[in-house]
Amino acid sequence: MSYDNPHLVAVYDIDNPDGPDHDFFRELATNSGSTEITDLGCGTGLLTVTLCGPGREVTGIDPSSAMLEQARTRQGGDRVQWIQGTSEQISSNSADMVVMNGNVAMHILNAQWQTALSDIARGLRPGGLLAFESRNPAARAWEKWQQEASWRETPAGILRESLRTDPPGEDGVVVMHSTYEFDNGSVANDDQRLQFRSRERIVEDLSMAGLNVTAVYRDWNGAPFTGGADQPLMVFVAARREGLDRD
Ligand SMILES: C[S@@+](CC[C@H](N)C(=O)[O-])C[C@H]1O[C@@H](n2cnc3c(N)ncnc32)[C@H](O)[C@@H]1O
Repeated sequence: MSYDNPHLVAVYDIDNPDGPDHDFFRELATNSGSTEITDLGCGTGLLTVTLCGPGREVTGIDPSSAMLEQARTRQGGDRVQWIQGTSEQISSNSADMVVMNGNVAMHILNAQWQTALSDIARGLRPGGLLAFESRNPAARAWEKWQQEASWRETPAGILRESLRTDPPGEDGVVVMHSTYEFDNGSVANDDQRLQFRSRERIVEDLSMAGLNVTAVYRDWNGAPFTGGADQPLMVFVAARREGLDRD
């Protein structure tokens, strides 16, 4: 799915509706008493607007202007501060919770990943939480993501989609080659890169940034992740350590 093509952005919420993942982030926000929440890689803002509530300030950050346009104009969009950009836009000590939903962490590649984690740690107050999901490389999800061309009706017209994935390179990056063809004859080709990282690697990366993992779940109901290849999902919750160098 291209995040810059307005036709495809219009289809995004149908393919990615509210669900148990959104419930998880909302419950975590409530249970942790978070009052300043940043949704990094907020996309069309479907989750972001539902994080708003009395006494809460919610910020949505995303690099895609097309996704943000959808976010700004949705119902409740006026309650969120929307910012175009990436993690460097997070203000220091501005949040008690940062969320990344919808594989956002996997979209942040190589050196940018460690930079993003440092930016998030800088943005969180001591004890503040980071929550996000990532795919377990041992489950080899990319092998199931191949899709033959097929037509379907969407709000943007009839759409024909196909998807082919290359297996990960040494850095764990999987390339997804998508082709989208609309009934008006226009065609969009899109390559997306997702980086698969092991639990151990993510725990270490978080720790280097000053974030201690407090839980890793294998589903959105809080079952513990135990590492098997039959557990495709890893949901991380980490807390910002007291006393980072910059404090
Ligand atoms: C699959 S969408 C998820 C959107 C939304 N969080 C959701 O759950 O529906 C991935 C989003 O990550 C954003 N993204 C890509 N690279 C990013 C980066 N380096 N930093 C922050 N967001 C990024 C894309 O623009 C896109 O909106």
